[in-house]
Amino acid sequence: MFIESLQLKNYRNYKSLEIEFDQGTNILYGNNAQGKTNVLEAVYLCGTTKSHRGSKDREIIAFEEEESHIRMKVNRDGLSYKIDMHLKRNKAKGVAINGIPIHKASELFGIVNFVFFSPEDLNIIKNGPAERRRFLDFELCQLDKIYLTNLSTYNHVIHQRNKLLKDLAFRPELMDTLEIWDLQAVDYGKKIIKKRKEFIADLNEIIKEIHSSLTGGQEEMQLFYEPCTEEENLEAEFIRNREKDLKVRTTSTGPHRDDLCVSVNGIDIRKYGSQGQQRTAALSLKLSEIFLVEKKIKDSPVLLLDDVLSELDRNRQNYLLDSIHNIQTLVTCTGLDDFISHQFEMNKVFHVVKGTIESNGKVLQ
Ligand SMILES: Nc1ncnc2c1ncn2[C@@H]1O[C@H](COP(=O)(O)OP(=O)(O)OP(=O)(O)O)[C@@H](O)[C@H]1O
Ligand SMILES: [Mg+2]
Repeated sequence: MFIESLQLKNYRNYKSLEIEFDQGTNILYGNNAQGKTNVLEAVYLCGTTKSHRGSKDREIIAFEEEESHIRMKVNRDGLSYKIDMHLKRNKAKGVAINGIPIHKASELFGIVNFVFFSPEDLNIIKNGPAERRRFLDFELCQLDKIYLTNLSTYNHVIHQRNKLLKDLAFRPELMDTLEIWDLQAVDYGKKIIKKRKEFIADLNEIIKEIHSSLTGGQEEMQLFYEPCTEEENLEAEFIRNREKDLKVRTTSTGPHRDDLCVSVNGIDIRKYGSQGQQRTAALSLKLSEIFLVEKKIKDSPVLLLDDVLSELDRNRQNYLLDSIHNIQTLVTCTGLDDFISHQFEMNKVFHVVKGTIESNGKVLQ
C-alpha cells in the first residue's frame, strides 16, 4: 500500500497544501518548527482518526480558523481510496471514504497501516510500563478490530469501576454494582491478555534475528510478557484485591497494569541495560513491528520516520536505511547529509519552510 497524495486546508501552520508522494522514499527536510512533523501527523490522523501526538482536533485547526480539511488518496492492491476528513472546533470530526460518510473509526482500519517511529520510541525500554503497553496496543489495534473494541470497552469499564470506588465513600448503597463491573472487567481483560500473549510470541519469532544482525551477533534479544496475572486467574485476582481496591479507590489489577520485559543475553535491560543497549533494542522492536505487520496484512505498511536518524549512530542509521527498501517511507530530518553520505536513494525531496513546501523548484499549494 502507499499514499498517493495529501491535501491540507488550514491544518496547523499550513493554509493550503497539495503534495504527491513517491511510492519509495520521501524526504521532508527543513529547520526546526517549519511543519515537517505536521505533515506526518496529518497523514497518520487521516488514516487512523487520531493524532500520534494525542492532540485534540481544535489544537490542530490553524489558529484563528474554524475548520480544517485533510484529503488523502491511498492505493491498496491497485485500488484507490479517497479519505476526506473534516475537523471542526466544537464538534466531532466528519470522515468519508470515497465520498461515503463513516461513523466508526474502525471502518478506516484495513485501508492503511502505519509504523510510526519517533525519537521518543527510542526511550520505550527506559521509560515506564505505560509506554510499553502503548506500543503493544498501538499495533494490535491496527491489526485487529476486535482487539480495538475489546480494549476500548475494557478501558471504559475500568474508568467506571474506578469512579464507583470513589463514589462508594459517600454512597455505600451502590456496593452491589461493583460486581457487575468486575465481571465485565474480567471478561474483556482475559481477551486482552490472550491477544497480547500471541502478539509477543509473534514478535519474538522476528526480533531475534533482527537484533542479532543489528549487534553483529553479539546480543540475543527476547521479549517476555508480564501480565498482571494469567488469564485464568484474573477473576480470582479481582476478588483477592477487592478490599485493597476499596481502600485505595482504584483498580489495582488487570491488563492496564501489564508490562513487557525486554531481555538481552538473559539480562532485563529495562533495569540493567546500558543506554545504547536500550536504544538498539528499541530499534529492533520497531523494525520487527514493520515485518510483523507485513506478515499479517500481506502488504507493506507505510513507514513514518520522524527525525529518528539524527538520534542514531552511524551503524544503526545504516542498518535502518538498509532495511527499508520496497516500502513507502516518509522521513523528516533537518538536513540531507545522512542520506547523501549513505548514498541512499531519495525518490522525492521536499523542502519545508514556514508551512510551505517546495519540491523541484515548485511551491506546492
Ligand atoms: N494549530 C496551529 N495553527 C497554526 N500553527 C500551528 C498550530 N499548531 C502548531 N503550529 C505551528 O507548527 C509549527 C511546528 O510544526 P512541526 O512540529 O511540524 O515542526 P517541525 O518542522 O517538525 O520542527 P522540528 O524539527 O522542531 O521537529 C510551529 O511553528 C507551530 O507554531
Ligand atoms: Mg518535528
